[in-house]
Amino acid sequence: MKYHIEKNSIQETLIIPLFGRKICSEHFPDLFSDPSAERICSMLDYDFSEKQKLMESQAGLFGALEVAQRQYDLAFEVKEYLKSHPGAAVVNLGCGLDDTFRKVDNGQCLGYNIDMPDVIAVRNELLPAVEREVNLGCDLNDDTWMNEIDASGGAVFFASGVFYYFETDAVKTLFRKMASRFPGAVLAFDCCNRRGAKMMTRTWLKGAGITDVNALFSLDDPMILKSWSNHFSSVTVKSYMRGYRDIYPKVNFFHKLMIRFCDSLVKMVIVKITFDKSANGKSSLSGNYYPS
Ligand SMILES: C[S@@+](CC[C@H](N)C(=O)[O-])C[C@H]1O[C@@H](n2cnc3c(N)ncnc32)[C@H](O)[C@@H]1O
Repeated sequence: MKYHIEKNSIQETLIIPLFGRKICSEHFPDLFSDPSAERICSMLDYDFSEKQKLMESQAGLFGALEVAQRQYDLAFEVKEYLKSHPGAAVVNLGCGLDDTFRKVDNGQCLGYNIDMPDVIAVRNELLPAVEREVNLGCDLNDDTWMNEIDASGGAVFFASGVFYYFETDAVKTLFRKMASRFPGAVLAFDCCNRRGAKMMTRTWLKGAGITDVNALFSLDDPMILKSWSNHFSSVTVKSYMRGYRDIYPKVNFFHKLMIRFCDSLVKMVIVKITFDKSANGKSSLSGNYYPS
């Protein structure tokens, strides 16, 4: 039995990081291992031959490194939060077929994986929820999903490769609602500047046949987020490729150059927003920016 992902849709974008993690595990086994990505790819009714050609070039392999590193970074942020909130809700926004909850599960936290209903239908077959885990089929712009989250032990939200597909106003609305619904929670996600979003649209979307989808959301200066809500108590930013661990010595010269390019010209970063503990609280905003 093979499972279908709708072609040329936002949902199809989940194939890119999933396949990237599989390719990365094969080419960089010292850096990444993701046996579940390999298993899931083999169970999809999807022709990977074009993606394979695209990803096995040096530039394509760099794309695979990016998505695998992004999963590492966001899992790191979740684990950090769980150190002080072991029973927290761990919420994967736009989860696709990513199994980060299982990689961070400490035996006490609660996992929520949210994506469009058709993606969740496939997920329920390939990654059925385990103990303390729930898969929710819902549009993130419909905030009823928030009612399902038990945040009594705290909450850490993460979105990997998701907000690019949202209009900026929709991102702003979502973040504001989350900040007032989940005081004290943390939200971590990846983003890049406008140049990066254009490159992503050209190479990873149009170039991969996903022609009806565009990368819309970008941040030239992530610190603008500070002005979005007075319920954000801090906004911090780290380099996506080098902020969490240094893979630099383990990659070839071309990939080293690409890492520098992504840091300096595309500003690929992981942003972490901490919501104020009190929904009515005054913010005491702090922020840092890496790379400088
Ligand atoms: C590039 S994929 C990333 C998947 C996963 N986070 C990963 O890293 O493997 C983007 C995912 O976001 C989901 N998505 C995009 N917009 C969404 C929305 N409004 N509501 C729910 N899911 C959404 C898509 O269906 C897709 O699974």
